Amino acid sequence: MVSKKPKIVIIGAGMAGLVAAHNLYRASTLSSDHLFDLCVVEGGDRIGGRINTSELNGNLIELGATWIHGIFGSPVHQIAQQIGALHSDKPWERMDGFPEDSVTAFEDGSVADPSIVDPISNLYRNLMEFAKGKKKKKNKIPPILKGMSIGEFLRRGLDEYCVQRSHHFCNLLSSDGEEAVFAMNENIERTYTGAGDLFNLDFNSEHEYQEFPGEEITIAKGYSSIIEYLASAIPLGMIHLSKKVVKVEWCVEEVSVNYDRFSTPVKLHFEDGSVMEADHVIVTVSLGVLKSGIKDQHGNGMFSPPLPSFKTQAISRLGFGVVNKLFLQLNQNQNQNQNQVFPSLQMAFHQDNSCRDESIPWWIRRTASLLPIYNNSNVVLAWFAGKEAVELESLQDEEIIDGVSATISKFLPNSDGIHKCSNGEISGVVRSRWASDPLFMGSYSYVAVGSSGDDIDSMAKPLPISTKDGSTPPPLQILFAGEATHRTHYSTTHGAYYSGVREANRLLQHYNCAVSSELLLH
Ligand SMILES: Cc1cc2nc3c(=O)[nH]c(=O)nc-3n(C[C@H](O)[C@H](O)[C@H](O)COP(=O)(O)OP(=O)(O)OC[C@H]3O[C@@H](n4cnc5c(N)ncnc54)[C@H](O)[C@@H]3O)c2cc1C
Ligand SMILES: *[C@@H]1O[C@H](CO)[C@@H](O)[C@H](O)[C@H]1NC(C)=O
Ligand SMILES: *[C@@H]1O[C@H](CO)[C@@H](O)[C@H](O)[C@H]1NC(C)=O
Repeated sequence: MVSKKPKIVIIGAGMAGLVAAHNLYRASTLSSDHLFDLCVVEGGDRIGGRINTSELNGNLIELGATWIHGIFGSPVHQIAQQIGALHSDKPWERMDGFPEDSVTAFEDGSVADPSIVDPISNLYRNLMEFAKGKKKKKNKIPPILKGMSIGEFLRRGLDEYCVQRSHHFCNLLSSDGEEAVFAMNENIERTYTGAGDLFNLDFNSEHEYQEFPGEEITIAKGYSSIIEYLASAIPLGMIHLSKKVVKVEWCVEEVSVNYDRFSTPVKLHFEDGSVMEADHVIVTVSLGVLKSGIKDQHGNGMFSPPLPSFKTQAISRLGFGVVNKLFLQLNQNQNQNQNQVFPSLQMAFHQDNSCRDESIPWWIRRTASLLPIYNNSNVVLAWFAGKEAVELESLQDEEIIDGVSATISKFLPNSDGIHKCSNGEISGVVRSRWASDPLFMGSYSYVAVGSSGDDIDSMAKPLPISTKDGSTPPPLQILFAGEATHRTHYSTTHGAYYSGVREANRLLQHYNCAVSSELLLH
């Protein structure tokens, strides 16, 4: 008698989907007979998802995931090391680590004195370490309120500091300098967390987020080398590109009379009109795609029947931020000193409206730095978050060049050479566009005020949920993986990786497939 192999379809060929596919394929081939009928369907024309390595003027750059956040214990670092991706002859973004010799300047062109920058940056660091639970509560810190945001917590910390030092700066003209430096640190936080507005970033969940110890590094051969490695273990024909899922039909009812072991409970509808059946699907699309997929209340959303309310509530409450990177190619003028390089510029914008320079566009005012991608590189990088990041996607290259040039000329007015970046000296613009791409609709998730880590756990729960009355719809029809489903490592590539391992294991356990975890990614 022929027994049908379980059909598993993975939606999305990003980190989570490829890790799940890698393990399921491995386990399937290690079992006596191929255990599963497996495929990956990807809406885009490339694999990698939010990993998107590119090139600019011979330099390797990352438009999406950039850093390995702590090398010790990171599965991404382990793969990178194993495949020799940490060395390259070609220059790559941040190949020399974090710049050490940065200058902090104000928009009037003055350089911030360390006596202003250092205490404020220390204060900021202490506050964030406290928020992350790395510091014991000190009595100076305001009482923690449920529902408080990181933004509010930081501002309370600054106010208290200000009161304590009032003799020192609060009544002096220089206080705008302190404000500006504090805001610069907040702007860095916005890109780290993806929360465009720190007043929408939940304070109480911040300590759940975990980081690996050790250095933070970039990948010499590019983040996409990790993706290529993962995909290389899977037969090529198993990954279907340009297959965008528009509807996932599933089955909440008890097994119907005409459901037998030869029919499948899940039906996927694609944009090209084709249909695919499955016993199990692993959904790895971004939280942004899920948010837009549940919007329609009349059954026209991405799921039919619609997802249960515990899912839609978690999807709605959690935050999904927009973060974009802008790379600028600078032309070195022939008659200028060739040794003149662009400095690692930290920008402290005035917070007080009355001293703002009108020639600086609003969309760059919350960008914290303009940094050569490595020391002496003539490619300069800026990070954007929130509505400024959204705006960046819609600007013309010329508008970006004008705006950035105006900004540079204010922050670095006295320097000669390339610092005087008049129009025409920026010759190339490359930027990411994560918000307007319908396959992402943003960059990464965060715990917004009003949600919590419990919502992330809800994101990870497979459907259907077991029913009280003992009716038995086919189990594990829709599983969820992806960055936004990992309670402690959300927003990262390794969070996505672990979620792929988790959902592959869920299916392997369901089918009592006991493959030594040594042979699988873990
Ligand atoms: C600018 C930026 C910087 C970042 N920096 C870092 C960093 O320094 N370090 C770090 O660890 N992480 C970073 N991240 C986060 C990291 O990139 C992500 O957390 C991770 O790559 C997400 O992987 P995933 O598999 O969960 O989702 P994705 O990579 O989004 O994969 C999901 C896939 O599903 C596909 N898809 C979507 N909708 C459909 C559909 N309807 N049908 C079929 N396919 C569909 C998408 O095309 C995509 O390929 C950054 C992200 C961005 C955007
Ligand atoms: C960067 O380059 C400049 C100019 O070549 C040099 O003076 C400086 O020491 C370098 N800094 C680092 C951190 O290598
Ligand atoms: C990914 O990179 C390519 C260039 O390499 C670019 O055209 C594309 O817009 C990038 N995707 C996103 C979402 O930024």
